[in-house]
Amino acid sequence: MRFHILTLFPDMVEQGLNTSIIGRAVEKGILSIEAVNIRDYTLDRHKKVDDYPYGGGAGMVMQAQPIYDAWQAIVTKIGYRPRTVYLTPQGPTFHQGMAKEYAKEEDLILLCGHYEGIDERVLEEIVTDYVSIGDYVLTGGELPAMVMVDAISRMVPGVLSNQESGSTESFEGSLLEYPQYSRPEEWHGKKVPPILLSGDHAKVDAWRREQSILRTKERRPDLLKWAELSEKERKNL
Ligand code: ADE
Repeated sequence: MRFHILTLFPDMVEQGLNTSIIGRAVEKGILSIEAVNIRDYTLDRHKKVDDYPYGGGAGMVMQAQPIYDAWQAIVTKIGYRPRTVYLTPQGPTFHQGMAKEYAKEEDLILLCGHYEGIDERVLEEIVTDYVSIGDYVLTGGELPAMVMVDAISRMVPGVLSNQESGSTESFEGSLLEYPQYSRPEEWHGKKVPPILLSGDHAKVDAWRREQSILRTKERRPDLLKWAELSEKERKNL
């Protein structure tokens, strides 16, 4: 899968996504992450990419032309118009199901805004999806774009090793992950739940399932309506 990130801060995005798991997938050629500097496409001789808003008011607005030309350069290179996401608090909130869906795309363009916003006319022409990462306002779309790239990438086949595989993790079947323990058997007077030392895999699996359900009920009851539960599990909630 190929990510194309339209940004005024390409270094931030490239450095931020150079982590072990994502970096390894890029090296293996499973992913590519290209940060496109919007400023490289300005026709202004001072390399300006923003201007005052018509109608007045505080802040600056990112102009349409450099963003459109940067986007068009990607489209020309890959030969089609891919889904183009604008990171904004005005979109629906990103969740695991969206990460799985986006992971099926061959290419994804992520548009990072700054200042007070982006000229509406270019959004109308290029944006297919508006996405927020939560109900708070950040100074730019770079961190949200990095959050999306990370969450989507780990759903792309081959990015996680079998060991790292997400199949039993939080949100699979809309349940939170069960608690984990490692050595030593006792720490600060707290013992590892004995069932985990029993060697009885069926019992361990049953305990973990129960813990996942309990934990979801306590911490994220809102998720239970989506959870894949047996009739008996749902009755016992
Ligand atoms: N840009 C600024 N804040 C944002 C948010 N919460 N989600 C996505 N993009 C943003």
